[in-house]
Amino acid sequence: MGVQLPPSAEPAAIDSCFIIPEEHRPKTAHNEYISSRGEEVPVIDLEHLRSEDDGRRRRAIAAIGDACEHWGFFQVTNHGVPPALIDEVKAQARRFFELPLEEKRRVRRTFENVYGYYESELTKNVRDWKELFDYGPKPRPDLRDDAPENVTLDGHNQWPEAPPGFRATMENWFSAMERLGRDVLHGISASLGLPPTEFDPHYANHSSFVRLNYYRPCPNPALTLGVNRHYDAGALTIVGQDGEVGGLQVQKGGEWVGIEPRRDAFVINIGDMMQVWSNGKYKSPLHRVVVNESRARFSVPFFYNPAYSTDVAPVPQLLSAGQQPAYRPINWGDFRSKRAKGDYADFGEEVQIAH
Ligand code: SIN
Ligand code: FE2
Repeated sequence: MGVQLPPSAEPAAIDSCFIIPEEHRPKTAHNEYISSRGEEVPVIDLEHLRSEDDGRRRRAIAAIGDACEHWGFFQVTNHGVPPALIDEVKAQARRFFELPLEEKRRVRRTFENVYGYYESELTKNVRDWKELFDYGPKPRPDLRDDAPENVTLDGHNQWPEAPPGFRATMENWFSAMERLGRDVLHGISASLGLPPTEFDPHYANHSSFVRLNYYRPCPNPALTLGVNRHYDAGALTIVGQDGEVGGLQVQKGGEWVGIEPRRDAFVINIGDMMQVWSNGKYKSPLHRVVVNESRARFSVPFFYNPAYSTDVAPVPQLLSAGQQPAYRPINWGDFRSKRAKGDYADFGEEVQIAH
């Protein structure tokens, strides 16, 4: 047996590929959820959106509008996703991520044509302290493999042999997320004063996908991030957050604010395409994920995005008479490919029209 050394006062070293430049290192811990002004990310009861009572429904829609305008983030309760399915997805994800690396790498994602496992994602050129598994919709059996509905920019799904039942669970999850995505999108659309179904035509052949994230405990969480600061490129993201371990943070008023983990809620955030549709009324929020020393964290975002063929432009009804759109039309598939290559690393000026 070796000599037992006293615990070192020095934080443990981590590989340099994970180290964030000093000015962007996290100073807000994973379990702080209130801003210095005493504000928290709003929580909205989706049951009210389905209410027969006009007043309740209108208040819920107004609350969504407020949250989109002031945070770009909110949580939803009474979302209709069965708790048993949520538990099953978490259990299956944990089983998968606990497999030996060689086994996970058998379904490794490639940038050319397949979804799958990936352990060295970069955000802002620094490696994220996480592992992930991406998958898209089921191919439609009624169509040929190369039909547009069956081909995505990201390619085809790969399913691991273990754990048993993984694929079936994840396919059920995809359907549950499509239903919740629709409800939330309808609420957001109504909050802009548009018909709830305004964006539905762009979603008939939507390009959404699910990502399972696994953040291991980190010996030095002050030096790295689970996901470095970024904007979501798409329209809408629905995040199943770990019920207990926090880490997701949004920037508001120059300050990073954590989003409280809740077992009964999903976190919603708007992305760049909704910013364009809303002509900048709703801004895509800057966010990141911090890690911690003692507890693994799991999250499962669903990126609910329109068809790749969609040309996204400010909705004309949202422009007052004579008002010029703040953004030029942008093709979603094109934007997504450019973002993936880093060409649109920070959304904003690139698509903004200077008047
Ligand atoms: C992300 O923004 O990509 C990650 C969300 C999370 O882990 O909570
Ligand atoms: Fe994100």
